[in-house]
Amino acid sequence: MSQRDSGYARVAFDQYETPEWATRALVPHLPPVTAIWEPACGSGKMSSALTKAGYYVFETDIQRGVDFLSTAIIPKDIPAIVTNPPYSCATEFIEQALKLTQSSSGLIAMLLRTDFDHAKSRRHLFAEHPAFMKKVVLTKRIQWFEDSKSSPSFNHAWFIWSWTNEGAPELAYHFED
Ligand SMILES: C[S@@+](CC[C@H](N)C(=O)[O-])C[C@H]1O[C@@H](n2cnc3c(N)ncnc32)[C@H](O)[C@@H]1O
Repeated sequence: MSQRDSGYARVAFDQYETPEWATRALVPHLPPVTAIWEPACGSGKMSSALTKAGYYVFETDIQRGVDFLSTAIIPKDIPAIVTNPPYSCATEFIEQALKLTQSSSGLIAMLLRTDFDHAKSRRHLFAEHPAFMKKVVLTKRIQWFEDSKSSPSFNHAWFIWSWTNEGAPELAYHFED
């Protein structure tokens, strides 16, 4: 998630690493699954939090030679894609993840700015998408760098899609001290 307008300096490859608590917040809301693909894993901060939570995590990243947007197939027996995508191509990441998970009736969770679903241009991914099942609002702001002197200025939420979803999307809130 790029924080380019937030007072943080821009970081190469949008290398913003998700603190463990923010990944843990997803776990109670994720439909049952044992294996997850983290396709923009960076140094592996989100994937290690998911591993600690008991999932088998398959990690790739463009910096490790795998461009998610050019990938044609989802790894065998891994029905779920979970990541914090680079902000500059977050829409493309969601579209690609939906394409890759459809045939296996899989699921996706993306950590995005909380108003990412507001844009008219993204309506096809949220209000109008049958697989969009849940938004989990993180009521605490994410501090992307432990030693940062400035306060974070954006709110984030988990957005979850499941190809087995039926009905309208749900809303949940995560509280963290
Ligand atoms: C916001 S960081 C997220 C890191 C990790 N998911 C986390 O939350 O700790 C975005 C990551 O996306 C990777 N990335 C950017 N474009 C990519 C692409 N086309 N395919 C795969 N990874 C990409 C970057 O190298 C970077 O590691």
